[in-house]
Order: sequence, then structure tokens, then C-alpha cells
Amino acid sequence: MTPKAARPAPQAPGPIELVARGEEETRRIAALVGARSRGGDIVCLEGPLGSGKTTFAQGFARGAGFKGQVASPTFAIARRYKLRRATLHHLDLFRLETKDLPNVALEETFDDAKAICLVEWPEVARRIMPEDRLEVRLSHEAGARRLFFAASGPRSGRLLAALGDGPL
Ligand SMILES: Nc1ncnc2c1ncn2[C@@H]1O[C@H](COP(=O)(O)OP(=O)(O)OP(=O)(O)O)[C@@H](O)[C@H]1O
Ligand SMILES: [Mg+2]
Repeated sequence: MTPKAARPAPQAPGPIELVARGEEETRRIAALVGARSRGGDIVCLEGPLGSGKTTFAQGFARGAGFKGQVASPTFAIARRYKLRRATLHHLDLFRLETKDLPNVALEETFDDAKAICLVEWPEVARRIMPEDRLEVRLSHEAGARRLFFAASGPRSGRLLAALGDGPL
């Protein structure tokens, strides 16, 4: 009789859904995740125009220890913020086309152990991203925003666990 393969240990906690009432609540939730972040982490921010992706990035940066202003990188594609132990890369790929991917050296950034990446409009770059990343999906909900979080491995699981640790 051949022994059955052991079931793999769960790599990440299951998805979480929250409603943020007001932009400060979006920031506060994001700050919890940012406070847990480390170099090498990747967070995809997906959602329609005006769903709160940049607002989320502002809270995340605050939680990660950045004291300054975080503005939308829409026209710059990327903005970088120096943290104590890592660099926060805030990307907005809305205007990036697949054919331009090789010109912007994103793969190096995703693979940089000192880079924390927050990616608005991540679709175009998904195929060059590491598998283990936190997916955040934002949507409008009657004057508020619905935030859906899913982790796909131990690294993003650690970020997601920040939301399960206590009262939000
Ligand atoms: N939880 C919330 N409840 C209500 N309004 C919110 C909430 N979170 C963010 N907003 C508001 O939504 C608006 C759009 O936010 P933001 O610029 O962050 O969206 P975005 O997804 O980055 O947009 P874009 O697609 O243009 O980059 C802002 O006015 C912000 O204050
Ligand atoms: Mg934005």
C-alpha cells in the first residue's frame, strides 16, 4: 500500500471582505496592511476609476512608516518612497501597454527583495509578477467602498493576517 501524499499545509488565510465607510477608513485598513509589509511584498490594487486605489496606497504608505505625501502616480507610472528598511514603489500601469513592458524594468522591481510594490491597474504586468502577492479589489458601494482581499502564498498571507488580528 502506498502512503497517501500529505495534504499541503494551508499557505495563506482565506479571503477577507470589508466595507470602508469614508476615505479615512480606507486608509486605516490599508495602514494595517502596510505596517506588516516588508521588502519583496507585492500588492495589486484593482478596481474601477475612483474606487480608492490611490487612497489605499496613501494609508498603506503611512502604515509602512512613510511620513510624507503620497500622490497618484498616474502620469509618472511609478513613484518611489524611501522607508527605513525598504523602498515603497507605487505604480499605476493604466497607461502602460504590453509592448512597453520590457522598457520599464518592472520585473527587476518585482524581484527586488528591498522593494515593496503597490500596483494600480496591475493587469498588464501580472504575467511577470511573482505568484505570491496580495490581491485587493475595490468597488463602489453606496457612498462607501467594498474591499476584497485575497492572498496566494505565505508572503501575502502574512499581509492578509494583519486584518484578522483585532478590531478594525
Ligand atoms: N471608503 C471610501 N468611502 C468613500 N469614498 C472613498 C473611500 N475611499 C476612497 N474614497 C474616495 O474616492 C475617490 C477616488 O479615490 P482614489 O483616487 O483613491 O481612487 P483610484 O481608484 O485611485 O482612482 P483612479 O482609478 O483614477 O486611479 C476619492 O475622492 C476618495 O476620497
Ligand atoms: Mg489612482
